[in-house]
Amino acid sequence: MKILGTGSALPKKTVSNDMLSEFLDTSDEWITTRTGIKSRQIITDERFEDLAALAGERAIQAAGLSADDIDYIVCSNVANCYITPSLASLVQGLLGIKGPSCPTMDINSACAGFVYGLDLCDALLQTSRASHILYVCAEEVTRFVDWNQRETCVLFGDGAGAMVLGKGDNLLSCKLTSVPMADVITYRLPLEPTPYETGEGIDTHLPMQLKGREVFRNAVNCAQRDIADVIAKAGLTADDIDHFLLHQANLRIVEAIREHMGLPEERFHSNIQRRGNTSSASIPILLDEVVREGKIKRGDLLLFDGFGAGFVTGAAVVRY
Ligand code: UT7
Repeated sequence: MKILGTGSALPKKTVSNDMLSEFLDTSDEWITTRTGIKSRQIITDERFEDLAALAGERAIQAAGLSADDIDYIVCSNVANCYITPSLASLVQGLLGIKGPSCPTMDINSACAGFVYGLDLCDALLQTSRASHILYVCAEEVTRFVDWNQRETCVLFGDGAGAMVLGKGDNLLSCKLTSVPMADVITYRLPLEPTPYETGEGIDTHLPMQLKGREVFRNAVNCAQRDIADVIAKAGLTADDIDHFLLHQANLRIVEAIREHMGLPEERFHSNIQRRGNTSSASIPILLDEVVREGKIKRGDLLLFDGFGAGFVTGAAVVRY
């Protein structure tokens, strides 16, 4: 695969830490020092699928293509109000993408979804099942957190990041892992009991559960291992990588990895200060912002690294 164009879209409502401390026992000082987050965009009266489609439309424009050129749509999403149809089908309808034939599918690999989907798209392109894939990662995590739980709700934001991928050999290396650890990050939808059961044992409401410290520790350890592995697999050294774009879960995680690698700050990009954690959308939103700021040139080497519920991890080296 190669990245032909990127796009992103964010909700219009910006919520600062001080705004959260109006109704939660928290403070700008706690959130800033523990996470790096100062504000985030939160979905209000927008439709989530419109944000996803807008990011996709911007990526198609940036690639210099039109909707007619897209012949596959893949979306990465943890949860939205539609269990079915898929987000990819909704995006297809909103953008009027007909293709000669245009299959659509969603994947859910939590916050590592972006790298998982990149690997899948590369396989689809390599086997000629597609020639131009619209790949959208979109999340509205703030609709799935408990707004009384200060441990989780302050961490997240919403948004969509997208790219158009075409045929090429720019995915230099990729590594995906999964270790079953269902209890570190869990979100379960409420179920209705059938007429054949009492309903006992069926949870009607379970807010997102997050073991922050465990995620933090795993994230740092796994990212250090995966980053070293994909760089070596690509036959490179860390000094060859121009830009590190890591999942934006906590600025302290990014800093711990950067310091461990002994690399300068300017090669590690971050936007968590303004965006919060947007799950699988965080890396593609960051990439689009950095590309549009003119900081990334064609030919530069990018390193992506994500981790999240599962526990899943993914890292990749890509030539832009
Ligand atoms: O993308 C995947 C999901 N992302 C993550 O899970 C992120 C990874 N984890 C983290 O980023 C960090 O673990 C957190 C930011 C979630 C928490 O930071 P921490 O340094 O691990 O704090 P902690 O959970 O150990 O909590 C420390 C204290 C506790 O009080 P006590 O027990 O020491 O009295 C918490 O109750 O901070 C308290 N606390 C808060 N205080 C003010 C927790 N949340 C808040 C809050 N405001 N929002």
